[in-house]
Amino acid sequence: MRSQHKLSLDADLLAHNGDRARSRFALRHVLFAFVAGFLSAALFPLLPSLPLVQILDPTQSLHPRPGSTDVHHYPPSHPTNAFPDLFPSDVGYPGPTPTGAEPALVATAPAYPLHTGPPHLLRPQALSNSSFDIFSHWGNLSPWFSVPPQSFRIDASLDPPQGCRITALHLLHRHGARYPTGTAAYAGPANFSARLRHAPHKWSAHRQLAFLNDWTYKLGEEILTPFGRQQLFDLGVSIRIKYGFLLRNFTASNTLPVFRTESQDRMLLSALNFALGFFGPKLDGQYQQLITIEAPGFNNTLAPSKTCPNARDPARGERALPYVRQWAKVYLQAARARLNSQIDGIDLTIEDVYAMQQLCPYETVAIGYSKFCELFTEDEWRGFDYSVDLNFWYNSAFGSPTSRALGIGYVQELVARLTSTPIAAHNSSTNATINDDPATFPLGLSLYVDATHDTIILNVLTALNLSNFATDGPLPSDHIPTNRSFKTSHLAPFASNVQFQLLACDSAPEPQIRIVINDGVTPLSSVRGCPADEPHGLCPLSAFVSAQRETISKTDWTWACHGEWNVPTGHGWNTTTGEPPAKD
Ligand SMILES: *[C@@H]1O[C@H](CO)[C@@H](O)[C@H](O)[C@H]1NC(C)=O
Ligand SMILES: *[C@@H]1O[C@H](CO)[C@@H](O)[C@H](O)[C@H]1NC(C)=O
Ligand SMILES: *[C@@H]1O[C@H](CO)[C@@H](O)[C@H](O)[C@H]1NC(C)=O
Ligand SMILES: *[C@@H]1O[C@H](CO)[C@@H](O)[C@H](O)[C@H]1NC(C)=O
Ligand SMILES: *[C@@H]1O[C@H](CO)[C@@H](O)[C@H](O)[C@H]1NC(C)=O
Ligand SMILES: *[C@@H]1O[C@H](CO)[C@@H](O)[C@H](O)[C@H]1NC(C)=O
Ligand SMILES: *[C@@H]1O[C@H](CO)[C@@H](O)[C@H](O)[C@H]1NC(C)=O
Ligand SMILES: *[C@@H]1O[C@H](CO)[C@@H](O)[C@H](O)[C@H]1NC(C)=O
Ligand SMILES: *[C@@H]1O[C@H](CO)[C@@H](O)[C@H](O)[C@H]1NC(C)=O
Repeated sequence: MRSQHKLSLDADLLAHNGDRARSRFALRHVLFAFVAGFLSAALFPLLPSLPLVQILDPTQSLHPRPGSTDVHHYPPSHPTNAFPDLFPSDVGYPGPTPTGAEPALVATAPAYPLHTGPPHLLRPQALSNSSFDIFSHWGNLSPWFSVPPQSFRIDASLDPPQGCRITALHLLHRHGARYPTGTAAYAGPANFSARLRHAPHKWSAHRQLAFLNDWTYKLGEEILTPFGRQQLFDLGVSIRIKYGFLLRNFTASNTLPVFRTESQDRMLLSALNFALGFFGPKLDGQYQQLITIEAPGFNNTLAPSKTCPNARDPARGERALPYVRQWAKVYLQAARARLNSQIDGIDLTIEDVYAMQQLCPYETVAIGYSKFCELFTEDEWRGFDYSVDLNFWYNSAFGSPTSRALGIGYVQELVARLTSTPIAAHNSSTNATINDDPATFPLGLSLYVDATHDTIILNVLTALNLSNFATDGPLPSDHIPTNRSFKTSHLAPFASNVQFQLLACDSAPEPQIRIVINDGVTPLSSVRGCPADEPHGLCPLSAFVSAQRETISKTDWTWACHGEWNVPTGHGWNTTTGEPPAKD
């Protein structure tokens, strides 16, 4: 019985301190462990079984990593008032606890509730009189929002079409707002801060830039911010209210849902926050959380580039940098001149000015407000938003020669789940250990939740052949296409969520599928066999699946990821399907 291996993961994963573990630790146990351990770690950090976070080297703040000028460590390592025995987590006497029906908003409400405006964050006061929404012009750094109606060029209602009901949901979501990642190929807030601090000459700033004179850089790296935590909690609540009724299938079949995430800190914590929103704090026995390993060399469909060297090669899969540089030179000239006139002793480059733009979203989602936001005009924010599109288009989406291969592993899993057929061959990022075991990769269930990254969401949309998002490609680096179809802020913002809905419709004999991205119904007309003009975004499941099978059979992971192909630089290679040159 697997449930006998339930153990307190906190002791193993959080502190590498095995003495409290209730049974021997093994990979298999991690995969199947219930989340109770995590929950107690997350919510009751003073319980006796829980280790306290190891103290960090106090000299670290004197010699911070490049950029960070201000580091605060919480919690204290040896608090003097920690009396775990006096703070039990269960004292009994819970009062009456009768439950009610599962919510089913997508079936019962007259309209669909939209997600607008990030709570807790302050928009720049200089823009407070404008209707311009700065939060939705930050590319992948935007907090997710319900995309405006018809963003995806289909006038479909979010409610299931008349006579249809939802029978299953496959949710693929991104982690919540985080600090900047550790490496920046271009600009990067930490580098900018280091440049200011280590500038060869003394500098001073005035007027709008005067705040820089005593500004300190306060951001860490990689991990979820408090706002990011809330985004995932809210997403969990929202999905429960809309789709809670799907849990009835599990009760009927006496099974638990399996949700998946990766080992990376922000991924794990995003998934747990989602679960807290979806199930509430008593997670024990409600679901099983699979934590796959996200690290170089591990097959993982939700972190596929870790086994795909070409994907990380600037001459192959990651070709965006020159486009971003070119575009920044176009749209930031005026800003550069304007800002340089307000600082003496340092010559701000275009790259510096770009980093100052990045600081606006990064500070806002971490500390709630950023003075940097006020420095730029609406058009400069449109330019920034587009720079992110260039970056993702050429690195991770339709314009990258490795993106289809990177996305195909999840597509194989989706097809397996949709058809209740195990994956036939492991020749991409799929992982036989996980995928061939019905316990870790159950088929045919009514609810799936997978957590991943912005890049992978875009890889997957590319592999699914959703080329209605690629109608302007290859994206130019000298101007913003009017009415563009590819917007990272719409597809892969913080806490982005892609809902694959399965429906049963009175008017159609066979099951239908529909894809809803950040509350926008996605046209499936580009998928072979799906109807060209379906007003509700529906496609018969069998047609959708056979198109995906065709792509799976035509995608060659070994060639895309390990092949010795070369592509000319820049527009010499113009894929809009995420493919490398054909193997000859
Ligand atoms: C916004 O409008 C109000 C009222 O018209 C005005 O007092 C205020 O100065 C304006 N703020 C900005 C930043 O333009
Ligand atoms: C940012 O700083 C790091 C560490 O100093 C360096 O390795 C990296 O090349 C810098 N990146 C940019 C874009 O300047
Ligand atoms: C498959 O995933 C498991 C768990 O994440 C990992 O231990 C194993 O190494 C992976 N297999 C491969 C071939 O990467
Ligand atoms: C990992 O991926 C490689 C490349 O697709 C494949 O050859 C191998 O069989 C996979 N391993 C597992 C355990 O799935
Ligand atoms: C879930 O249960 C509903 C109602 O019984 C049923 O219509 C639906 O097909 C089930 N979904 C799955 C994936 O089994
Ligand atoms: C935007 O593009 C869509 C599809 O390409 C087209 O139908 C629509 O008319 C365009 N709108 C404008 C304002 O150009
Ligand atoms: C992919 O999309 C293109 C249109 O962009 C279409 O011609 C092709 O048939 C599609 N292929 C599949 C397998 O859906
Ligand atoms: C996996 O192998 C099958 C059968 O040989 C082949 O059709 C397919 O292209 C391969 N898929 C990948 C992703 O390499
Ligand atoms: C690629 O696209 C760009 C922009 O549309 C165009 O200028 C260029 O000629 C194209 N290159 C090739 C090789 O087709």
